[in-house]
Amino acid sequence: MLVTSKELLLKAQEGGYAVGAFNVENMEMVQAVLEAAEELNSPVIMQTTPSTVKYAGLDYYLANVEAAAKRTKVPVVMHLDHGNSFELAMQAYRTGYTSIMIDGSHESFEDNIAVSKAVADACHPGKVPVEAELGKVGGKEDDLDGGDDNPYTDPQEAKEFVERTGVDSLAVGIGTAHGVYKGEPKLQFDILSQIREVVDIPLVLHGTSGVPDEAVEECIKRGICKVNYATDLRIAFTNGLNKYLAENPDTIDPKKYSAAGREEVKKYVMSKMKVCGSVGKA
Ligand code: 13P
Ligand code: ZN
Ligand code: NA
Repeated sequence: MLVTSKELLLKAQEGGYAVGAFNVENMEMVQAVLEAAEELNSPVIMQTTPSTVKYAGLDYYLANVEAAAKRTKVPVVMHLDHGNSFELAMQAYRTGYTSIMIDGSHESFEDNIAVSKAVADACHPGKVPVEAELGKVGGKEDDLDGGDDNPYTDPQEAKEFVERTGVDSLAVGIGTAHGVYKGEPKLQFDILSQIREVVDIPLVLHGTSGVPDEAVEECIKRGICKVNYATDLRIAFTNGLNKYLAENPDTIDPKKYSAAGREEVKKYVMSKMKVCGSVGKA
């Protein structure tokens, strides 16, 4: 069942768990995430970044996720991840995405507020919820470089940001980074708790590939309701495919090696749904 992220995240917030948001890049990844959600009776968010959208188009990904959602009773959300312009956010909205992120975190505070509010105002009449970001997630997300300047979200700014924009959920900078970590990530749990105290909408953790499960669980205890995983799904898919081709070098049927990649993604996603605490919450 295709739903918006609004009730899903509010329910998670109330229940003290998080919903996993998994970046999908092809049909097999969509199938893998759906199978994991079905098997664990878990709500799930599937999401695509601008570079993924560029690869095949919003309509292609939405059609895949809609087909998946029709086959199941578990709630499935189709989310635009790191929407990098008002225009792309509107395209996703018109295409039928059921959740939209506008990432103005690379703009000034005021410009971030302006673009996030504009997207929220445009999406809310159609009941499509909006995620925004304040502070910075490190590393390289998609085509954007997170940079190394002060990445942490200021709790008081977060409060003002949420009040002035009317967004439905907020991605926070607490020390995570997109991609593979060079060392152990150092998360600022205190900042997260301080944000939670003054902001009452669901909070979102980005850059979660490579974050130890115990740290993710601590973040969920402190108010994170949506947890984003991307890089590790790519790695799982590619490892599965490579292993299959190494063992079966004469294979020319894409279904064979893609199914091997799909199986690895499914296993990974199931393990992370357990970390999120969303098992049985559909
Ligand atoms: P990772 O690639 O580190 O899992 O980050 C995912 C993410 O934040 C997608 O928006
Ligand atoms: Zn992200
Ligand atoms: Na990461």
